Amino acid sequence: MPDFTAASPGKIILVGEHAVVYGEPALALPVQAVKARAVINPVLDGPEGIIYLEAPDVGLSSSLENLRENHPLRVIVSGLQSELNLKKFPSCRIQIRSTIPIASGLGSGAAVSTAVARALAGFVGHPLDLKQLSALVYEVEKIHHGTPSGIDNTVVVYEKPIFFTRDQAFETIRIPVPFTLVIANSGIQAPTIKSVQRVRDGWKADPLRYETLFAFIGDISRQTRRLIENGSPLDIGPLLDENHRLLQKLAVSIPEVDQLVQSAKSAGALGAKLSGAGLGGNIIALADENNQEKIKQTLIQAGAEQVFITTIPATPAG
Ligand code: PMV
Repeated sequence: MPDFTAASPGKIILVGEHAVVYGEPALALPVQAVKARAVINPVLDGPEGIIYLEAPDVGLSSSLENLRENHPLRVIVSGLQSELNLKKFPSCRIQIRSTIPIASGLGSGAAVSTAVARALAGFVGHPLDLKQLSALVYEVEKIHHGTPSGIDNTVVVYEKPIFFTRDQAFETIRIPVPFTLVIANSGIQAPTIKSVQRVRDGWKADPLRYETLFAFIGDISRQTRRLIENGSPLDIGPLLDENHRLLQKLAVSIPEVDQLVQSAKSAGALGAKLSGAGLGGNIIALADENNQEKIKQTLIQAGAEQVFITTIPATPAG
């Protein structure tokens, strides 16, 4: 049995987070500059059916059965086992490495689950189709998210720019003209479940106000898609700014994140917003070719823990 490797990209939500949980559309993009990777090696001389896990980035070294029952890695492996109707996996060692910052809106959890399921399925000679894989990763997202919309597992598994509406088939976005984003990690980790809960509490207390905010965000997603598909990605800046203001109204931004958004704007970003669940995590800033380096340096000076520039490539024509 050969060693088996799989890698999955990170992701960002361009516009529409939180509102997407309530049925509005959102746009998400895979980010190939950061990746989670799983490597499976057979263990030929040990007891049967034992899976050893090593994830040095998070200090994990354990057998699968010693992890708590709802540990994401345990859930993805047992989900795969039932999907494939297997009694046991052959004994193996799974090594996981990731360059995706954890709990910061870049899809680290979905990417790790995807890479592990893909590698393990390949290892036992039963590759999964993308729909099956996405459904398995969604089950794990429930642990991270509580009530996930499904956007993270979809963009990470399909590795395509998507226009996503909950409980509907996603649409792939056409990108005729590439564009560049500067992504900055505030270094403040925030579990998604916490900000999703905060929005839910706000919505329960004042449904009309929250539903109006969600509808505005949904409009931003539709307009953003139109501009990108018309080949005018540099015109989406004001929509990103407006989306950030609406996320502030949903109470999921924090002063440190607002400060990064402000710094990016002062360095010439065409638009900037928090990306993902918020209460920390990442911001994204739309750059043109003249100001991307300046935005990056300004964000580092403003205290961002990690900053990288990524170009969202044009999608193949047709
Ligand atoms: O945890 P993140 O940063 O991937 O954010 C998820 C996006 C939300 O809209 C906040 C939640 C969801 O399930 O869509």
